[in-house]
Amino acid sequence: MTAPAVSPARPTSQNAPLLEVRDLNAFYGQSHVLHGVNLHVRPGEVVSLIGRNGAGKTTTLKSIMGVLRSRTGQITFDGQDLTRLPSNRVAARGLAWVPEERAILSSLTVRENLELPPARPGGWNLERAYEAFPVLRERGHHPGSKLSGGEQQMLAIVRVLRSGPKLLLLDEPSEGLAPVIVQRIGDMLAELRREGLSVILVEQNLKFATRLADRHYVFVDGQVVDEVRADEVEARRADLLRYLSV
Ligand SMILES: Nc1ncnc2c1ncn2[C@@H]1O[C@H](COP(=O)(O)OP(=O)(O)OP(=O)(O)O)[C@@H](O)[C@H]1O
Ligand SMILES: [Mg+2]
Repeated sequence: MTAPAVSPARPTSQNAPLLEVRDLNAFYGQSHVLHGVNLHVRPGEVVSLIGRNGAGKTTTLKSIMGVLRSRTGQITFDGQDLTRLPSNRVAARGLAWVPEERAILSSLTVRENLELPPARPGGWNLERAYEAFPVLRERGHHPGSKLSGGEQQMLAIVRVLRSGPKLLLLDEPSEGLAPVIVQRIGDMLAELRREGLSVILVEQNLKFATRLADRHYVFVDGQVVDEVRADEVEARRADLLRYLSV
């Protein structure tokens, strides 16, 4: 028997959800793209959202963060309703989003990018950032625009960890990166996972997602059509690959 990629030992099932999304519908103008999405994340859990291009994964993250306000349903975090809050107040509650475009400031240096977001209690200081990714120290004086895709991704993740979030939302962190960099980012996320950070990981890279996530929500056409636990992944690998293939 193959051991599951993720140890099921962590006591997550008895905990109340940290984030709960109920019957989420989301719209871009007249276009109705999410149709009754339900999902939850328990404290310390890493949950992946997987699915093909256009399935609604990014829209789900935008809806949770309050960046996309045109939505119905209920989003609760730490027992409080987020549904009516603007994105800055959602972030202040402890949610941090790293978008697909890796929002860093390209005209500022690496160090300036790291120093700009105020470090909050429990958040990462510069030393911690440099320890996790020594290349960021080496590149400290380089502008963001001169970084490789992998370095930009590292910087984007570390930047949001300055605020000490309770829930990290990552949109396709492995996309377009060399395998060795994907491995490095995976190692760092595994470390965060061990420390108990809760994460929603949007991915199309199944290997990366299954290395890290406790559960996987499968998105098709704006709906969650399946949910697979880490200990079910081996038995259901063919289904998962089919959901992701084009
Ligand atoms: N700004 C927008 N305006 C109108 N339609 C949009 C907008 N952004 C996304 N969509 C549509 O909403 C649907 C869901 O898109 P979304 O970006 O959430 O998918 P995704 O699962 O993140 O895909 P990908 O893997 O390509 O990033 C798609 O049909 C997409 O074309
Ligand atoms: Mg997307």
